[in-house]
Amino acid sequence: MTEHPGPAHAGFDIEQPNPARMSDYYLGGKDNFAADRAAADAVIRAAPEVRTLAVASRAFLGRAVRFLVDQGIRQFIDIGAGLPTQENVHQVAQRAAPGSRVVYVDHDPIVLLHARALLEENADTAVVEGDVRRPLDILADPRLRKLIDLDRPVAVLMFSVLHYLAHGEKPGEIVATVRDAVVPGSYIGVSHLVTPPGGKAIEDVLGIYKSALNANASAGFRRTQEDVLGFFEGLELVEPGFVDLTKWRPEGTPEASSAQLFMYGGIARRP
Ligand SMILES: C[S@@+](CC[C@H](N)C(=O)[O-])C[C@H]1O[C@@H](n2cnc3c(N)ncnc32)[C@H](O)[C@@H]1O
Repeated sequence: MTEHPGPAHAGFDIEQPNPARMSDYYLGGKDNFAADRAAADAVIRAAPEVRTLAVASRAFLGRAVRFLVDQGIRQFIDIGAGLPTQENVHQVAQRAAPGSRVVYVDHDPIVLLHARALLEENADTAVVEGDVRRPLDILADPRLRKLIDLDRPVAVLMFSVLHYLAHGEKPGEIVATVRDAVVPGSYIGVSHLVTPPGGKAIEDVLGIYKSALNANASAGFRRTQEDVLGFFEGLELVEPGFVDLTKWRPEGTPEASSAQLFMYGGIARRP
């Protein structure tokens, strides 16, 4: 087990803006406090599209899960699950394929509290405390193993979570560790904020998130599309690749593209 000094989340401190609760506010949720709303409003002033992006991210999650069900996947591990909202992974997956098993993982105590209350709706769904920086501990968790059979294909989703990791925390190696731990025919999904060329908004947003995260971690927001593409090494990216997630298999009318902040997403198969 690797030790990781320095908290990347604020626990129960309601005076400290918290990324999960800020995301909840962008989505119009109620699980946020004054400090979260103040920080989130500052982000919205710097980059108003952040709200559209949060909504687009959840829509991407829905399309990705439906795609994975179509590929025959019936087991999902959602790492960095976030505060429960509508159309969480188990709702989408179990509607498309009843009996699909879903394990939610997060390291934030507030997320875990809400997730246990709202997401553990049935025997096929569980919430597990875990840190994406320790993927093997997550996969070894007995509560996860009760639901997920790692001898069969599984989808591991890391949506909007790896950009909270500093470069030194080697997010690419985390994806590779997961890739090597799952059987062929499994899928890995990643969505990640990517740096626009010369965007000013990202600097302002970075500054705000530095108060909610440790300063090194927020450096993950500076990754380029190329940097994150490298995370998919040894995997087969399904069409259309790692793209602006509003353009990933859009259903019906394409969602509005973002202006200054870019969120990219992709789903890849372990060959
Ligand atoms: C923006 S939310 C993403 C929610 C959801 N995955 C989505 O795409 O809509 C990011 C979540 O990642 C969690 N997170 C951040 N760092 C993490 C870590 N090191 N391990 C596990 N979860 C982490 C946060 O607590 C938060 O709930």
